[in-house]
Amino acid sequence: MRILSGVQSSGNLHIGNYYGAVRQFVLLQEGNECLYFIANLHALTTVRDNTLMRQLTRDVALAYLALGVDPARSTLFQQSDVPEITELYWILGTVVPLSNLERAHSYKDKVAQGVSPDFGLFAYPVLMAVDILLYGADRVPVGKDQVQHIEFARDWATKLNITYVKGYDPKDPLGKHGSPAGLLKLPEVLVQAEVATIPGTDGKKMSKSYNNTLDVFGDEKDIKKRIMGIKTDSTPVDAPKPTDNPLYALLKVMAPPGEFDAVAAGWIAGGKGYGDYKKLLLEYFHQSFGPARLRYQELAREPREVDQILKQGALKAREYAQPVIQAVRRAVGL
Ligand code: ADP
Ligand code: TRP
Repeated sequence: MRILSGVQSSGNLHIGNYYGAVRQFVLLQEGNECLYFIANLHALTTVRDNTLMRQLTRDVALAYLALGVDPARSTLFQQSDVPEITELYWILGTVVPLSNLERAHSYKDKVAQGVSPDFGLFAYPVLMAVDILLYGADRVPVGKDQVQHIEFARDWATKLNITYVKGYDPKDPLGKHGSPAGLLKLPEVLVQAEVATIPGTDGKKMSKSYNNTLDVFGDEKDIKKRIMGIKTDSTPVDAPKPTDNPLYALLKVMAPPGEFDAVAAGWIAGGKGYGDYKKLLLEYFHQSFGPARLRYQELAREPREVDQILKQGALKAREYAQPVIQAVRRAVGL
């Protein structure tokens, strides 16, 4: 399988990004052909400071590497190092219905938060579709909030295939039953159901936009403060605790294998206060991410090595892209 995914370099990586996306990236390296990238062109829709932009791009590269993306097994690159992306972006855009973009969650959510929309934000799903289609990816591991984007990628790839491949049959996209294969391969989404949405410290979806994150590589004191500040209710120490609580959900994802059952039993029985559970969560955080946090510090001291990895990755990614972009150019008459 060819696996592809990306993380936007628009802020610090949080544990929602890790459990929802990056952990899968790492596991999928076994037995697959993986491409992982830093979506810095996407980040331009929100980051408007060039120093910060470079810094955040670098931070995502370090995060990927520290968390176990292995450049010997996976192609790791920056989106902006592949110029074919912007070429296919335009071509694909010519078949994208405006009505699809108008109902994109990513766009509607930002508008609802009061962001005044520009073309970049509106066209964001087209760029994301191209990220996937340019490399002929089979599977795209992402969190649940990205599923609509993958569905769009499939719809628009089908549209381009129908428009430019004579006799293309959407029921036989790979051309296994006599009709010609499409120019663009239809990707499938991979979502891990049990960690589909990690809650933030306030109980809403953990997201950079809500200031409710636990950052994987965040400052130690800040992590502690945030964990101690997780929203709970006034259930007394002795009483059973309600399980629809972000602290409970976070303990569940972060507990080492086999440990959560005992925690859950104690939670339901009562007898321990929320403060004790917060301390336990802080321990789990350091157990889970301590080694990666150290590795991150080490990598940060080797900027040349990281640059080299990204450069090599981009060359490889462009090799994947070449046959696709050339076939598309030919098909559309360029
Ligand atoms: P944010 O919402 O913080 O801006 P992104 O949209 O950059 O995060 O998400 C990067 C990746 O992490 C995506 O695959 C997304 O689905 C996943 N992700 C983000 N937040 C969560 C969460 N709270 N739970 C699970 N996965 C998440
Ligand atoms: N939009 C994704 C996010 O916010 C990042 C992304 C950009 C992506 N292009 C992609 C994810 C292609 C998967 C595949 O997380």
